[in-house]
Amino acid sequence: MVPGAIESRPPEPDLSALIAGVKFRNPVIAASGTFGYGREYAGLLDIGSLGGICTKGLTLNARTGNTGVRLWETPTGLLNSIGLENPGIHAFIKHELPHLNTLGPVVIVNLSGASVEEYAEGARLLNEASPAIGMIELNISCPNVKAGGMAFGLDPGAAARVVAEVRRAASLPLMVKLSPNAPDLAAVARACRDAGADALSLVNTFKAMAIDIHKKQPVFDRTFAGLSGPCIRPIALRMVWELHRAVEIPIVGMGGIASAEDALEFLMAGASAVQVGSATFSRPGAMTEIIEGIRSYMQKNRFACLQDMNINL
Ligand SMILES: Cc1cc2nc3c(=O)[nH]c(=O)nc-3n(C[C@H](O)[C@H](O)[C@H](O)COP(=O)(O)O)c2cc1C
Repeated sequence: MVPGAIESRPPEPDLSALIAGVKFRNPVIAASGTFGYGREYAGLLDIGSLGGICTKGLTLNARTGNTGVRLWETPTGLLNSIGLENPGIHAFIKHELPHLNTLGPVVIVNLSGASVEEYAEGARLLNEASPAIGMIELNISCPNVKAGGMAFGLDPGAAARVVAEVRRAASLPLMVKLSPNAPDLAAVARACRDAGADALSLVNTFKAMAIDIHKKQPVFDRTFAGLSGPCIRPIALRMVWELHRAVEIPIVGMGGIASAEDALEFLMAGASAVQVGSATFSRPGAMTEIIEGIRSYMQKNRFACLQDMNINL
């Protein structure tokens, strides 16, 4: 710097993200299944400061979820086998959606189903409830249910069929949530894009398990469960990087994000936004810290907007 010159103050960065025509005030979204319907964390963080909230996975009819142990900690992660416990779409629209709408962040409804018909009917009902809903996140990747869920996310043909039917049933912006357990994730991603997905989100949990050596049996009644948290982050990051090169539609990245540094890695890999799940359980304020951390990193490094940070070009 020239002696005597006044260093200009870095400009305030623009943290907004545009995904499928929907504007998010910042790129940090509460991940499905870890933030309920927005009521549970009231008073524990400034919910209004979040970019978006993804609801717990909804099905056409209410589900009681799985029996037995549902959560099991590992040294750097969390196993869950909730089994899509939810009140059903009708009850959600009547009792939860009005409240969710008062909170401020974009409302993303996570939709699941056991058949293509159930997914399509669920999407039709959600479409009727727009504009209260900003976006559908189509969950074709839940590993903890007997029928449907992940089965649709493993195979490009099955994924295309369900995405096409949901696309026909609803004009709401459509993001499809992918399973990291798919043998050929890029093929599934391309099939979803070709069938009408506006955006992709990844990753859902990895199929995993634990054994209770004292009971000498698997911990979970359904034997397998879904693994999330810091242990999956480098693999999730690699998948986001690869899919950003495989498809041109926006990607929302997640998997083990617990700090601004973690979130920045995903944004640099090409993600348009991130979701934060397991970290909120241990640190309810994690998402607000992440938003502030991204802002201060961008300011310090003179990034004007999120896209400027993408290094995966
Ligand atoms: C307890 C729990 C429940 C979840 N329920 C859902 C769900 O209903 N629908 C869904 O798409 N993902 C669900 N997920 C997956 C998360 O949204 C997220 O994809 C995954 O946990 C990876 O992110 P994380 O490591 O930040 O938690 C759930 C995760 C956990 C831990």
